[in-house]
Amino acid sequence: MKKTIITMPGDGIGKTVLPEAIRVLDAAGFSADYVHADIGWEFWCAEGNPLPQRTLDLLQEHKISLFGAITSKPKTEAAKELAPELHDKGYVYYSPIVGLRQHFNLDICLRPCKSFIGNPLNFIRRGPGGKIEEPEVDVVIFRQNTEGLYGGVEWTNPPDNVYAALNSHPKFKGFANTPKEELAVSTRIFTKRATERIVRAAFEHAKRFGYKSVTVCEKPNVIRETSGMMLHICKEVAKEYRGIELRNTNIDAQMMWLTKNPETYGVLVSGNMFGDIVSDGFAGLIGGLGFACSANIGEEVAIFEPTHGSAPKYAEYETSIVNPIAMVLSACMMLDHIGETEKASRIRQAIARVVEEGNVQAYDMLKLRGTPEVSNQGAASTKQMTDAIIRALK
Ligand code: IPM
Ligand code: MG
Repeated sequence: MKKTIITMPGDGIGKTVLPEAIRVLDAAGFSADYVHADIGWEFWCAEGNPLPQRTLDLLQEHKISLFGAITSKPKTEAAKELAPELHDKGYVYYSPIVGLRQHFNLDICLRPCKSFIGNPLNFIRRGPGGKIEEPEVDVVIFRQNTEGLYGGVEWTNPPDNVYAALNSHPKFKGFANTPKEELAVSTRIFTKRATERIVRAAFEHAKRFGYKSVTVCEKPNVIRETSGMMLHICKEVAKEYRGIELRNTNIDAQMMWLTKNPETYGVLVSGNMFGDIVSDGFAGLIGGLGFACSANIGEEVAIFEPTHGSAPKYAEYETSIVNPIAMVLSACMMLDHIGETEKASRIRQAIARVVEEGNVQAYDMLKLRGTPEVSNQGAASTKQMTDAIIRALK
């Protein structure tokens, strides 16, 4: 039976790269029914909702989705761009991807950062004697995707009952003299259930794919309750996985070390905000936006997306120059998820071949500024890059 895949191109270059990924899937012999779903800025402006109910219904029905990118703007700017008849009706803009993660409880976020040999964007460093070294990075970040600072439990000028609760905490003394209206509070809530799920997912992945260590990257020395809970759970779960070393780093130190010895890390696990940060950090070592792919996985629904944004300016170029590889790699993660692992690895090998040969390179790989002129400077267009991957598949 043919699978149905929900496609949510979203805004800007999301609309460019998603169809390119489907061209590669087709060429790899994966056939599916692709059903479009509305999401993004255009629906915010026209309907006051960037994530319409009809899209949620489609996702609920078909479970698997490819997602492009979304344009987000600050609250007041967003309100201004609403259709005139929707002004002052209480519509508030929120990030639809964060909304999707919450709505479908896509609590496991998986972000592989693996360097391709020959990628000119790979991180290099100076070794002993000044020798240039290019460490091979092969890291998979497991980010808790629904809780923590993204949970949305926050207030400016908190209501009386909340204020009273805060006031009952001995550490609130330092804030007690601040007028209530001048207080902004964002909570960082971790649950045992979700924390255990992300930690287990990390260890399972390490075991299945032969990674030697799981590094928990939090800040338990300061954020004792939440980071402390994650570290404690890691220690418990680690007992079930003999042979996989549990390492423990603080987010700040990790951001410093990741350029020093990135090849020594395997699987990482973090809460939501720190996972967001550390995954960008490692992505920077393997090519950045053009190469960073990601999966948002729940118990039922799974959504696969490149981590880059919608880059609205680039979407206006007559010939698109953006690198489609992050989107194609996200599609590979989808194939893995639905058991089409052989096709996924063939596509990854094709990308590896194109990158290593170096004949076709997007502007980012040539380290050019992304102007329309890059085509005259040897940069491949989006389509040419996809074509090269498809040729390498054959
Ligand atoms: C990501 C992005 C999102 C996040 C933004 C776009 C809301 O940075 O997927 O990493 O913060 O999770
Ligand atoms: Mg991010």
